[in-house]
Amino acid sequence: MEFTFHQIETDEEIPYELLLLADETIEAIHQYIFRCDVYVLKKGQQSIAVMALFRSSDTELEIKNIAVADPYQNKGIGGILIRNAKKIAKQNHYSSLLVGTSDTGFQQIRFYEKNGFVKKTIRKDFFIENYPAPIFENDLQMRDMIVLEFLTHNFPE
Ligand code: ACO
Repeated sequence: MEFTFHQIETDEEIPYELLLLADETIEAIHQYIFRCDVYVLKKGQQSIAVMALFRSSDTELEIKNIAVADPYQNKGIGGILIRNAKKIAKQNHYSSLLVGTSDTGFQQIRFYEKNGFVKKTIRKDFFIENYPAPIFENDLQMRDMIVLEFLTHNFPE
């Protein structure tokens, strides 16, 4: 079975089912998705992973959403998406690739650190101010967003 990776066209369906693995609500996704370049990884005709990239500034590109379908997690696909994001950031002359995740997302933070990201800043109370109801993960309420950074001059590693 052939794997393909491409940016979705404007007339192509947005893969909400995948995006919802990484974000809580459609409303939250709609805050950024129409301003992002959205990439999908397909196995044959089936979309199995997604990544949404947002131009935060002339120098910073941010991964707003990254998700791999359940049966395909933990097989290195997330790592491949991150490598593609680094390549896209470098080719388009961004000096920095950013990603934000909850302070309660220990596995996600570990995933980004294993892929060369370093903690940069905290967006205080992000998950309290931007979501209508409290969200819990690992039995803890999500509160702050931890922003991690990869400097593109380090690519290829
Ligand atoms: N949730 C979070 N992290 C996971 C999960 C999971 N369900 N499964 C694996 N990981 C992490 C682990 O840290 C693992 O490292 P370990 O081997 O040391 O335990 C590492 O990912 C494995 O690397 P890959 O196989 O390359 O990762 P994978 O293909 O599973 O992709 C991803 C990682 C994107 C986090 C995926 O697991 C996923 O889609 N999880 C659910 C959605 C999510 O949490 N997305 C990120 C939210 S933050 C944001 O979108 C900006």
